[in-house]
Amino acid sequence: MESAIKAPRGTRDVLGDESWKWTHVLNVCRGVAGDFGFSEVLLPIFEHTELFCRGIGDTTDVVEKEMYTFIDKGDRSMTLRPELTASMVRSYLEHDMRRAPQPVKLWSAGPMFRYERPQKGRYRQFWQIDFEILGVSSPMADLETIDTSMEIYRRLGLTNLQVLINSVGCPKCRPAYRDALKRFFESGPGLEALCETCRGRFDRNPLRILDCKKPECREITESAPAILDSLCCECAAHFEDVTRGLSRIGADARLDKRLVRGLDYYTKTAYEILAGELGSQNAVCGGGRYDNLAEAIGGPSVPGVGFASGIERIVITLEGQGAFLGDKPRVDVYVVTASSSLALEASALAHELRSSGIPSDTDYAGRGMKAQMKQAAASGAGFVCIIGEDEAASGTVSVKNMSSGEQRSIPRDEAASKLALWREERNR
Ligand code: HAM
Repeated sequence: MESAIKAPRGTRDVLGDESWKWTHVLNVCRGVAGDFGFSEVLLPIFEHTELFCRGIGDTTDVVEKEMYTFIDKGDRSMTLRPELTASMVRSYLEHDMRRAPQPVKLWSAGPMFRYERPQKGRYRQFWQIDFEILGVSSPMADLETIDTSMEIYRRLGLTNLQVLINSVGCPKCRPAYRDALKRFFESGPGLEALCETCRGRFDRNPLRILDCKKPECREITESAPAILDSLCCECAAHFEDVTRGLSRIGADARLDKRLVRGLDYYTKTAYEILAGELGSQNAVCGGGRYDNLAEAIGGPSVPGVGFASGIERIVITLEGQGAFLGDKPRVDVYVVTASSSLALEASALAHELRSSGIPSDTDYAGRGMKAQMKQAAASGAGFVCIIGEDEAASGTVSVKNMSSGEQRSIPRDEAASKLALWREERNR
């Protein structure tokens, strides 16, 4: 039956036939986080709007066009988080984590909100896993974040991932590059031939033009000067160390001189990880260094580096590659009765089995036995316990092995121990 009110555009219900895949992804992340020494933090879903305006940058698409901002009942401007990095840094500062031994390694997962045009792999509410290393400026930390993400994908069984990497410099070297880029666009066919959005970006944020995917802009930016040629000594040495280390961690990485990312806080390293299965929204992961973000939101200088990966996109890629996602959880035993007068017996047996650690289910809809058997088969249970009038009178249960079809009668009070044994034999 259709309901009159639907989920808002760009959001989706993750139902039971899919949610277990998410649990699998999150479990793998949790395992990797533990092995790499990241501790999990749970942060607010909404923050003061100012955090994102100052942290992400006023001229980014995220802040200009995509934020879900509202005035709360106390007349304060709040925003549903479009990403986690700014919140992570805010939390680090608020809890004075500078006093702890550095670096501080944090991770989190949860829903993010961006008012974007929905399409495959792009939603208005989507989930990210987010990993950050705060308090150190070593290029080894940059490498470790790439290593962490690749380890997650490796454990999930994802293959054919391409790491794109670039440096976006720092406030010392970027202005000169910005000028060089503007001169490039002003000369030749450049400026006029750019798309309307990029013409708008020319004065406010010319680096973002490099990121435009429109063919007319890509053709022009193909021959744009590379930021790597304008890096200061410190940024160049940092980039050199990161790229040298990439082969050590076995990442298939390619330099992409046009990679600038859509958030303004990045300094030095910027990277994305692409998966072919995703179509036009092909980034499964985005990350980089943000050494000035803490200051931008009013704190002291705290270097940081990290990445985020979209869970919807991870699941799409896993499915596209036919990767093993773990088994869909199912009950092991389904209890069937010959008549609804035996429902209490069924419920008591299911209760007993569950208490003994055997996942079990039964029918409460008063269906006939044939329908219950159908339900039992659909549940994927390996065993069906049948309680008929005879069984109830004689204190027995008939147990059918659903894969062999074999059926035997056992004493009711041995049901839990026998089923536990058979389950074990089957799983061996
Ligand atoms: P981002 O590139 O904006 O970076 O997002 C990271 C990832 O989130 C993307 O690669 C993609 O997998 C997923 N994603 C983004 N937008 C959507 C969407 N509308 N629908 C579905 N998935 C989406 C950040 O958010 C930074 N905070 C990453 C970071 C962490 N940088 C440093 N630390």
